[in-house]
Amino acid sequence: MDSIRIQGGIALQGKVRIQGSKNASLPVLAATLLVGEGSFIRNCPRIADVHSMTSLLKSLGCSVHWQEAGIFVDSSKVRRGEMPREAVTGMRSSLCLLGALIGRCGEVTMEYPGGCVIGERPIDLHLAALRQMGVVFSEQKGQLRAMAKRLHGAHIILPFPSVGATENIILAGVAAEGETILEGAAREPEILALCRYLSCCGACIEGAGSSKIVIWGGRRLCGTEFRVPADRIVAGTYLLGCIGVGGNIFLEQAPAEEMDAVLLAAQEMGGHVCITREGLYVQAPVRPLAVKLITSPYPGFPTDLQSVALAVASKGSGRTDIEETIFENRFRIVEELKKMGACIEQTDSHRVAIRGVDSLQGAQVEARELRGGAALVAAALMAEGESFVRGCSYIYRGYENICRDFRELGARVTSV
Ligand code: EPZ
Repeated sequence: MDSIRIQGGIALQGKVRIQGSKNASLPVLAATLLVGEGSFIRNCPRIADVHSMTSLLKSLGCSVHWQEAGIFVDSSKVRRGEMPREAVTGMRSSLCLLGALIGRCGEVTMEYPGGCVIGERPIDLHLAALRQMGVVFSEQKGQLRAMAKRLHGAHIILPFPSVGATENIILAGVAAEGETILEGAAREPEILALCRYLSCCGACIEGAGSSKIVIWGGRRLCGTEFRVPADRIVAGTYLLGCIGVGGNIFLEQAPAEEMDAVLLAAQEMGGHVCITREGLYVQAPVRPLAVKLITSPYPGFPTDLQSVALAVASKGSGRTDIEETIFENRFRIVEELKKMGACIEQTDSHRVAIRGVDSLQGAQVEARELRGGAALVAAALMAEGESFVRGCSYIYRGYENICRDFRELGARVTSV
């Protein structure tokens, strides 16, 4: 069943619990390799990218067991730093295993993690930083080989706050001898979650969540129990979905404290939000207002919600301008939205202008990557009549069950 059928035009009503964060759970799972004992990771989302990550961990010798409330990972028997070819290509999030495996085994051989639809996804910042820490890279039969005879701390300045590079530097820094000072670090909540997990295991890290992080490496780590925070991008997807089609919903456990830029945009689009200890109430009129949006590193508006905002703006009252500053090819859904009657002009590779139309029509559309797929579901909810979103395996990489979640919010959505 790789399609979703949606009967659009129905305002959302109801409540849904927000799943654990994909982008927090992946680096935490990688970090279990540094611990060499068992850790229990609560609220880990049951999504395709996590299953791919756990398969990689098993292939390296970890024991992995799902339980009701989370996943138990024991890396005490990790044998080597070689990742199976078929597991690594095409899954970007395996890149954070690079720092963890160099820290644990002192070496790793892996496929170059490929680019994807949204961009070329280079890894130059990762490699440059790890070289400063004593890692030597070479290429063997088209694979990337990393070796560190003596992994040591360094003073690293990132020219761009790359999330993945920040994660790899932290993972290697925890195992390295001495002090690592990282300036220009990413400030995403996922970095904070990773550092909280490592600190619970006994690591000594200061400045997580700021642009300057200091790691004192070489400390013995022990297993722990850790709860993955709720997924701010999934919460933002459902929040903006409600802004698009209208309604009154409650997003249980939504991490509102990590969503300032998204909440501001939602209010500018005409939505009303109310934050409580238990989650986020959202009330939205039938038609969103036009806005200007620019994506930027946290705490700016997240690139991962740009596609959903673009879909919502397709029915906005007026002209919406969106600038994508993080990835070079994140407007692939424009052609799909036009099949629904959207009026969108791509002025260059980083900018689109959307003239909101009074209504969108249901259509057959194709998802080509994770967040674009979720955006097409949001668009189909807004459209009149029936839509089919094909290519849903992309969506299941990051959303546990987007059909069930939107059904709980009153939408007519089924997997077919
Ligand atoms: C993480 O990707 C997320 N993925 C992405 O979410 C998210 O969009 C991105 O951060 C930005 O917030 C995970 O956490 C698994 P980056 P990452 O390194 O680490 C350039 C989703 O939908 N760059 O911050 O790969 C890069 O090309 C995914 O959940 C270099 O030039 O992002 C991009 O333009 C999509 N050289 C920009 O930096 C490098 O060495 C941001 O990349 C590394 C990155």
